[in-house]
Amino acid sequence: MNLLLENKINNILADIFKRLDLDEKFAFVKVSDRPDLSDFQCNGALALAKIAHKNPREIGTMIADELQKCDFCESISVDGPGFINLKLKNEVIAQNADKMAEDERLGCGTVENPHKVVLDYGGPNVAKTMHVGHLRSGVIGESVSRIERFVGNEVTSDVHLGDWGTPMGMILSEIILQDGNLDKVSSYDIAQITEFYKNANIRCKEDEAAREKARIITAKLQGGDADYRRAWKYLRDESLKAVKANYEQLDVNFDLWWGESDAHETCREIVEIARAKGISEIDNGAEIIRLEESNKPKPPVIMVKSDGGFGYQLTDIATIKMRVDDLHAAEIVYFTDNRQSLHFEQIFEATDKLGIAPNVKLQHIMFGTVNGADGKPFKTRDGGVMDLETLIEMSKEKVRQSLPQPDEVAGYGAAEIEKLTQQIAIAAIKFQDLKNTIASGYVFELDDFAKFEGKTGPYIQYAVARINSVLRKAEAAGLECGPIVLEAPEERTLALKLAQVHNVVMRAHTDKEPSIIAEYTHGLAQVFSTFYNACPMMSASTPQLAASRLKLAKLTRDILKLMLYLLGIEAPEVMLKAENKGE
Ligand code: ARG
Repeated sequence: MNLLLENKINNILADIFKRLDLDEKFAFVKVSDRPDLSDFQCNGALALAKIAHKNPREIGTMIADELQKCDFCESISVDGPGFINLKLKNEVIAQNADKMAEDERLGCGTVENPHKVVLDYGGPNVAKTMHVGHLRSGVIGESVSRIERFVGNEVTSDVHLGDWGTPMGMILSEIILQDGNLDKVSSYDIAQITEFYKNANIRCKEDEAAREKARIITAKLQGGDADYRRAWKYLRDESLKAVKANYEQLDVNFDLWWGESDAHETCREIVEIARAKGISEIDNGAEIIRLEESNKPKPPVIMVKSDGGFGYQLTDIATIKMRVDDLHAAEIVYFTDNRQSLHFEQIFEATDKLGIAPNVKLQHIMFGTVNGADGKPFKTRDGGVMDLETLIEMSKEKVRQSLPQPDEVAGYGAAEIEKLTQQIAIAAIKFQDLKNTIASGYVFELDDFAKFEGKTGPYIQYAVARINSVLRKAEAAGLECGPIVLEAPEERTLALKLAQVHNVVMRAHTDKEPSIIAEYTHGLAQVFSTFYNACPMMSASTPQLAASRLKLAKLTRDILKLMLYLLGIEAPEVMLKAENKGE
């Protein structure tokens, strides 16, 4: 059940439309564009009039007259060319808010037909330090994963570790070049491993012979060479440890830690299927699948390279087959930056030709880059790549400046302050990312992102903690929540805003767009703040009013917490501030 006010009105409208013999398709309202005039508006009369060649105001008035009889509106008017404007009675809104407060899902419904979704995000690579470029995929993917689960879909998230391509041959080749063999591999820590990879990268950029060597080693590794496999496994395990630590800090979670290498056996199957279907061919020694060229040239998918190695495209196609056969995915969604758009177009088309994922929805959600103030990809102060650990440390440093010192506040020793610092710093990083629509890139706002005011994660965490504090005080004073009554305009506005939550979550789900939730959450925190300043709770004029306001506050707190959860952000019970020692 969802407790969207619009649904209630839509049901009434549908009845009226039926009675008046009007097309029920147009029997719906939306939140008003003119909140000064109305809460909701129905534009159906305009569409109906167009079809019937009638005057829209006339049809509007006919509908409005029927609505009048239903006794749930304070005012109904037909305005402009035929918009029907509705202002609900306060009791109707209050009743709905009461029901939301009593509902364990806070009025949010679920999808009608739940299905299995596999989400592919993260995508870090063995031996490469995770940097700011890896931030968005993990942060957006985690949020979408929580949203999808919440609306009732079954989700499996998979990191798809980059552990099988040429970079593997490059690093092994570099170690052999420097050490003479692979004997010392298992003594290297992650810092040394990434250093080898950096050097390998530089060498391969300049030197064709080095590239050739790396290619040969990659093919041998994939072919099963025992020494290469042993060394590779160590490098993979060490990298995975570092990657897991990074994701743990960010509170980004995965059900599966599959890598490209796990698709190796299925890659062979794909090659066989392509041959059997007659859709592959040999081109310059490589085995490829040609694709349709529509308005722009689309290069073929290279399944097997001329040296026998499997590439990024084939491992991805094989992984689709595994996700369909083993995980029973009905939908697979990928989150990467927009530079991989061609890759996904290619593999989706090849998958279609292969017929390995019939009726499975494949979607690539691409995002823009995280930029510095100069509009170029975000770098450290000395111009280096901003790695994730540095970014998190930087954010924590900012947050520390706003928090009291350990033991300055009773109960907050070093460990508690550190935990709070971490929760706020991650909220700051994630919210700054998620408040932007996915497709757009954004400038990493160095000065303001961790502030307790403005459109930031900490601002919303602060709003939650503030309500927690009021509720604690109320409890201590023996005050309880009671039925909601709406008298002050600030109460009414708050209750109307709360009533949107189902719609917000559903839109975020349909569009796979967490920014819709981020935007709403910030708006709700602001509306609450206005209510908080205008409507005293503990010292309300009557006990009934105090009880109603406490209930509104509690519902707001619960919805804010749920929204933060869906964004992948924690909501600490208490927030502290350096100046006033918190609430
Ligand atoms: N490892 C890849 C990279 O760093 C991203 C993987 C994205 N997921 C996928 N199934 N291709 O570019």
